Amino acid sequence: MAPVTHLTLIIAVFITGVTAYTNHTVGGKAGWLFDPNTNTSSADYAAWTANQTFELGDYLIFNTNTNQTVILTYNETTYRSCSIDNSSDTDTFSYSQGNQEFGQPLTVAVPLTIEGPNYFFSDASDGVQCLNGLAFGINVTHGVGLPPSLNQPPPPPYVEPPTNGVGSVTPVDESSGANVRGVVCYALMFCGVFCLFLV
Ligand SMILES: *[C@@H]1O[C@H](CO)[C@@H](O)[C@H](O)[C@H]1NC(C)=O
Ligand SMILES: *[C@@H]1O[C@H](CO)[C@@H](O)[C@H](O)[C@H]1NC(C)=O
Ligand SMILES: *[C@@H]1O[C@H](CO)[C@@H](O)[C@H](O)[C@H]1NC(C)=O
Ligand SMILES: *[C@@H]1O[C@H](CO)[C@@H](O)[C@H](O)[C@H]1NC(C)=O
Ligand SMILES: *[C@@H]1O[C@H](CO)[C@@H](O)[C@H](O)[C@H]1NC(C)=O
Ligand SMILES: *[C@@H]1O[C@H](CO)[C@@H](O)[C@H](O)[C@H]1NC(C)=O
Ligand SMILES: *[C@@H]1O[C@H](CO)[C@@H](O)[C@H](O)[C@H]1NC(C)=O
Repeated sequence: MAPVTHLTLIIAVFITGVTAYTNHTVGGKAGWLFDPNTNTSSADYAAWTANQTFELGDYLIFNTNTNQTVILTYNETTYRSCSIDNSSDTDTFSYSQGNQEFGQPLTVAVPLTIEGPNYFFSDASDGVQCLNGLAFGINVTHGVGLPPSLNQPPPPPYVEPPTNGVGSVTPVDESSGANVRGVVCYALMFCGVFCLFLV
């Protein structure tokens, strides 16, 4: 490999690293809005998704107001129903809780953290917005994977607390290792008390 090729490779890796994650502004300039007078959404979201790729760690930025909601679901049935009525907390998430006042400007940033089909819709106006176009699905691919900031480590495995500690009256099988440790423990305790007397 010529040195120039190496350099090109390094530069390519550098650029890829810098631009690894993308913020996608949903609907572009048109945003995430619905006009109840014409029953139309502000953008054609299927067309908007068509020529871009969505990868783990990217964000979808919804420029909207509190007349619309932002629901993320991984469940196609929930998506098709335009409602969260029968949805599960484990596969469907609302990003619009809190503000009860109509028409307040709102920006919602949704990180893409699960590969495969991700569906978005507004469940406002009893599903009318969703039924009339305020909805879309994307396929999230792996890309370079989640950044550490979005990659929650799994909780440590559950460890059974010791049952043969000092003061415990739990009967233990004579042959068990736990009991041997208990004996050693008591021996050390006794030694400690004994040594105290020697001082
Ligand atoms: C993308 O959006 C997230 C969430 O709002 C933000 O923390 C991050 O700085 C944005 N990245 C860029 C490159 O704009
Ligand atoms: C797709 O990308 C092309 C070129 O980047 C752009 O001109 C076009 O408007 C895009 N289409 C949509 C629906 O965003
Ligand atoms: C998807 O959601 C529907 C309710 O909207 C529920 O009946 C169904 O069990 C869910 N599917 C999965 C795979 O969890
Ligand atoms: C939720 O489930 C009930 C009972 O099965 C059903 O009548 C209703 O249509 C469902 N709602 C939606 C939005 O799927
Ligand atoms: C939001 O909805 C309320 C009630 O339907 C309406 O009066 C208001 O004009 C809407 N605001 C915007 C910014 O769409
Ligand atoms: C909007 O669509 C809903 C059904 O999706 C309908 O009930 C309502 O009358 C429509 N409103 C207008 C202004 O067309
Ligand atoms: C999503 O993209 C992956 C990788 O390109 C592909 O294997 C998979 O079939 C796609 N899934 C859907 C539902 O389009």
